[in-house]
Amino acid sequence: MVGGGQGAFIGAVHRIAARLDGKWELVAGALSSDRARGAQSAADLGIAPDRSYADYAQMAAAEAQRPDGIDAVAIVTPNHLHAKVATAFLRAGIAVICDKPMTATLAEAEALAALVAQTGVPFILTQTYTGYPMVREARALVQQGAIGQLRHVQVEYLQDWLTTPVEQGGQKQALWRTDPTLSGAGGCIADIGTHAVNLASFVTGLRLDRVLADLTAFGQGRRLDDNASVLLRFDTGAKGMIWASQIVPGTKNELRFRIAGDQGGLSWDQETPELLDFTPTGRATRTLRRGGEETLTPARIPAGHPEGYLEAFATLYADAAAALSQRPSSRGPGCLPDVGDGVLGMRFIAACVESSARGGIWVSLPHPA
Ligand SMILES: NC(=O)c1ccc[n+]([C@@H]2O[C@H](COP(=O)([O-])OP(=O)(O)OC[C@H]3O[C@@H](n4cnc5c(N)ncnc54)[C@H](O)[C@@H]3O)[C@@H](O)[C@H]2O)c1
Repeated sequence: MVGGGQGAFIGAVHRIAARLDGKWELVAGALSSDRARGAQSAADLGIAPDRSYADYAQMAAAEAQRPDGIDAVAIVTPNHLHAKVATAFLRAGIAVICDKPMTATLAEAEALAALVAQTGVPFILTQTYTGYPMVREARALVQQGAIGQLRHVQVEYLQDWLTTPVEQGGQKQALWRTDPTLSGAGGCIADIGTHAVNLASFVTGLRLDRVLADLTAFGQGRRLDDNASVLLRFDTGAKGMIWASQIVPGTKNELRFRIAGDQGGLSWDQETPELLDFTPTGRATRTLRRGGEETLTPARIPAGHPEGYLEAFATLYADAAAALSQRPSSRGPGCLPDVGDGVLGMRFIAACVESSARGGIWVSLPHPA
């Protein structure tokens, strides 16, 4: 693991998720930007002292030389380091499991995609919400044609933790997320807007063609957006909207989607993640339940025992283990986000930033030929 030392947020979530299915063991790390904290964090986690590294480059080189070297690295640092760290490990021939947004800039994302193609080393992006069974269920229903031709996709991701300028009081996670040199050109649009656009693409299978964005920094003195309203156009002509915001009092992780097709509709809310509402046009809404008789997606544990965020994250790690050993996933084939999803996320951010800076015009996303 690179990042995820004491006081960090998502590193601890990765560690729980990685262990849930017994496929991964944490054996090495460069866990902090602060050498002493990194060493202390490694000791707390039972990492042997000779595999607690002062920096990621040293770790990549040393682990590549060991006969029992790591199978993959989990990158859980702030955004500006993702590309540098991933590059070091890919060049050392070590698989990468990287958190989102994939990089801080679009140029870095494209260079990373080229390196993955050139080296053939696996790269997995932890777009957490793709690991939820009922998100995969929604995707399978769309693929089956259960809601017909898609017309409109609405995704909201709302939080309230940046309602006041907590970064000015030194809040660690807010400090780097509101600093363009550490977060990249996007604030909220990068931090949670990328989850929203990933979810829209993952569930619908549609290719995003254009965006029109209005990004705002409401927080006093804030340099990056904390609120994003985005109109979407997909290549089929389907339309969509994303509202991503971190200044909505009363919301925590209100991630929801609603999809309208000509034969039916689907809606899901990550705060009640075991339920998916499916409404065939002209008929009553059926609330599908994870692990229920009607569901297509395999369940981790029987219905009625609640599953949530940690299990969704764990499914990505289980899928990653399967992918690395070239076995199919047991929980829905072809669901694991990769470097291409990361490039899409960065294209989305760049297009939204440009659209908003130019007064809210439609901006096309570049697509590979
Ligand atoms: N998938 C998700 O749902 C999700 C949720 C939260 C965060 N994230 C992503 O995870 C990443 C980390 O976010 P966070 O909230 O955990 O941040 P954080 O600030 O809590 O933790 C960052 C960690 O990186 C370490 N670090 C910084 N520079 C380093 C270096 N040079 N070498 C080694 N470690 C270094 C810090 O010391 C700290 O331990 C971000 O990219 C964020 O977007 C993803």
